[in-house]
Amino acid sequence: MTQPGSSDDISRLNGSGRAPISLGERLVANGCITSQELELALRRQRSQSDAAPNMHRVGRTLVDMGLLSQASLLDCLYRQFAAERDAYQVSSRQQDAVIRLEQVVKILDGRRVLDAVDLAIPANRITAIIGMSGGGKSVILKHMVGLMKPDQGTVWVGDQPLGRLSNRALNEVRRRFSLLFQGGALFDSMSVFDNVAFPLREKTNLPETEIRDRVVRSLEQVNLVGMEGKYPDELSGGMMKRAALARALVTDPEILLLDEPTAGLDPIIENAIHHLICDTFMRTRYTMVVISHAVPEIFKWCHHVIALHRGKVLFSGPSREVNGSRDPVIRQFIHGDLDGPIQVI
Ligand SMILES: Nc1ncnc2c1ncn2[C@@H]1O[C@H](COP(=O)(O)OP(=O)(O)OP(=O)(O)O)[C@@H](O)[C@H]1O
Ligand SMILES: [Mg+2]
Repeated sequence: MTQPGSSDDISRLNGSGRAPISLGERLVANGCITSQELELALRRQRSQSDAAPNMHRVGRTLVDMGLLSQASLLDCLYRQFAAERDAYQVSSRQQDAVIRLEQVVKILDGRRVLDAVDLAIPANRITAIIGMSGGGKSVILKHMVGLMKPDQGTVWVGDQPLGRLSNRALNEVRRRFSLLFQGGALFDSMSVFDNVAFPLREKTNLPETEIRDRVVRSLEQVNLVGMEGKYPDELSGGMMKRAALARALVTDPEILLLDEPTAGLDPIIENAIHHLICDTFMRTRYTMVVISHAVPEIFKWCHHVIALHRGKVLFSGPSREVNGSRDPVIRQFIHGDLDGPIQVI
């Protein structure tokens, strides 16, 4: 059985074909700690437990040992992401896009919710989709996993056109995804443990011991250890979001779609969730799509931004460019002005 965070586990390749990089390795590579300090922390973990040292939790051990403050730990991890984000360039090569919508039209209740949408989601990057409420963001996400079908146009995942796939082939494609629905949608009648285990029990034939390992590891990643037995109505809003995130992560997806993971949370928890998403990305290199109203904060936490308005893509490009956009709709949306081309009342 693989121990959570063991070297076997850490060197396992994920769906993108790139080796996940553990927190400890990143901290050393980033110059935040020395390899001797990392070794000290791992030795301390070994002395406290018989289990293999946990490279994902090494940050907490370093903080406990006084080798790093919590703030500098987060800052260090963020700086590494920021450097990568600022160097990000949009690629014109089609194979760098993992999902593409080509001239997608969707009419709902007689309204053209998606109006000839063309967009590309870059592989192994974080993309944020922003836009006014009711602008079609969640509808786009549902098209990406084939939960909604376009009236016109094509949705591609890799080189597969979803509309032309058999149900079986579509299910295979869906296995590559995990979706955090808007609102989290935990099952009220299930404990946190059973909620997180649910997709594994539904989609895999894994033995219960392996399921337990994976659930524990997933809860560990979102800092919810010890909450396994709680029910959703015993959790705070932030804990529910984290539990829903653990459920999305537990299947080790190649593509993670998050619909408003920070909606309704206070700024501190919002910040913590952004750190968590960023940390998950740095560790796993999943392709991530995050729908968010947290503008302009979300621009710090993604490589690519797609701005949607009235069913059309207004902007698609590196996050560092969106603040400088001259489009009056984007400017009004970012600054939250009541005056401007978007009529609110
Ligand atoms: N199943 C459906 N049947 C009919 N209309 C729908 C359906 N789903 C979405 N719509 C409509 O499509 C439009 C876009 O909805 P969507 O949920 O994508 O908005 P959104 O951009 O995600 O908004 P928000 O930021 O508030 O979540 C809305 O007018 C909504 O009422
Ligand atoms: Mg929505």
